[in-house]
Amino acid sequence: AALEDLPAGVPAPRRVQDRRTPAEPAPRDGFRNAPGSDPSIAANREWAAGIVGRMAASRLGEETAAGHVITEAGALDELLTAASVASAAWRALGAEGRAEILHRAGDVLEARRADLIEVMGSECGKVVEQSDPEVSEAIDFAHYYAEQGRGLSGVDGAQFAPVALTVVTPPWNFPVAIPAGSTLAALAAGSAVVIKPARQSRRAGAVMVEALWEAGVPRDVLRYVQLEDRDLGRRLIAHPAVERVVLTGAYETAELFRSFRPDLPLLAETSGKNAIIVTPSADLDVAARDVAFSAFGHAGQKCSAASLVILVGSVATSDRFRQQLVDAVTSMEVGMPWQPASRIGPLIGPAEGKLLRALTTLEPGQRWLVQPRRLDDEGALWTPGIRVGVQPGSEFHLTEYFGPVLGVMSAATLEEAVALVNAIEYGLTSGLHSLDEAEIATWLRTVEAGNAYVNRGTTGAIVQRQPFGGWKKSAVGAGTKAGGPSYLFGFGTWTDTAPSA
Ligand code: ALA
Repeated sequence: AALEDLPAGVPAPRRVQDRRTPAEPAPRDGFRNAPGSDPSIAANREWAAGIVGRMAASRLGEETAAGHVITEAGALDELLTAASVASAAWRALGAEGRAEILHRAGDVLEARRADLIEVMGSECGKVVEQSDPEVSEAIDFAHYYAEQGRGLSGVDGAQFAPVALTVVTPPWNFPVAIPAGSTLAALAAGSAVVIKPARQSRRAGAVMVEALWEAGVPRDVLRYVQLEDRDLGRRLIAHPAVERVVLTGAYETAELFRSFRPDLPLLAETSGKNAIIVTPSADLDVAARDVAFSAFGHAGQKCSAASLVILVGSVATSDRFRQQLVDAVTSMEVGMPWQPASRIGPLIGPAEGKLLRALTTLEPGQRWLVQPRRLDDEGALWTPGIRVGVQPGSEFHLTEYFGPVLGVMSAATLEEAVALVNAIEYGLTSGLHSLDEAEIATWLRTVEAGNAYVNRGTTGAIVQRQPFGGWKKSAVGAGTKAGGPSYLFGFGTWTDTAPSA
């Protein structure tokens, strides 16, 4: 149906036909997801080729990252205290004033889409297929939280009293969307933010922060830092002025933060070991595509990545699905993001420790369906690997690796498959491919996962539609979901007496 024929009340998607034309400001009267850059449009392919051509030599974000390195404890204390004090003016601006600036932040992020894609490729090895939707997600967070912030006044007659200071410690694997989401949420709630992006993605984080400053977020309310040593990191987390810490990272990092300060008010999204179950009723073509993309997109370096596929009944006993999977996976080109054909880029650094073991060593009962190969001297560029015969309770069944290796398990029934999923101590994302309504209902009732996806991959949650957050050891703290209606509640307290934020 033509867009004009959509029934009343269904908002038409914004049409961005051509990335050479500047995008229009997003609407301020309701939320819509920002579209990606459709590569079937020739002009967008040309636009992307221009970005890819700039990646290898790009230094975007360098100046900001290098200009905000803290080298001593006194300077850090001073900065944290100043940010906490500056939050008063930000709060006094009110929800409306903040929403206006945050909507503008979404528009600036859109205007800097090409720069953000360039820096993510250059610094973190992200290919455009992965980084373009990531920019859309960051833009979505801006507009979505701007609107959610407006809703914080006056629920049930109570007022929302935001914290003064939030520290954001984002990871390198989503170097724009995760720092943007955490920062924009805290800002929308009325808190000041000190953000310390991971060292491996300091330039990407800096370009994101520059966009927010350009939109009008005051520089004393949003502070960007890099720290010279680990002791300063401990000090940042443990500082008494810090009222919230947003962490996206390994479960062990959350424990480390807690060891710095036992009563730490942590909002943490932590590790995942995610599985997709494929039953005999599934559309196997779609399942193979979704498993391949979920397991090997961004070289598997996502907390949401599928690391296991569990084949049920005849899907396990026949070779058909395994062959489809081999075809899908071996057709994915591996290379640097500035080589336009690359669909799988490099790891963030050389594979080592448990990941290197997962790429090179089989456990008893396993064999390679597709054996990974190292393509560079450094050890960061690997072709994807698939191992079959992963046994219940084995290391590969239960361990998060964060790299391009997928394990295949078998189960006689759906119930058995769900038991294999639930035996894992994490519960972030989970997938089911099935066209049987009873199976879908059973799975939804029994699977232990924060984000449960039916007939879809396990990565790429979409703001508002699929709020993102984990269960079990995949979350520490409030357990509210990013990009969902309760996320901002984590940044303050409801009270009868506080003045309105
Ligand atoms: N939000 C990211 C995803 O869904 C982690 O893949």
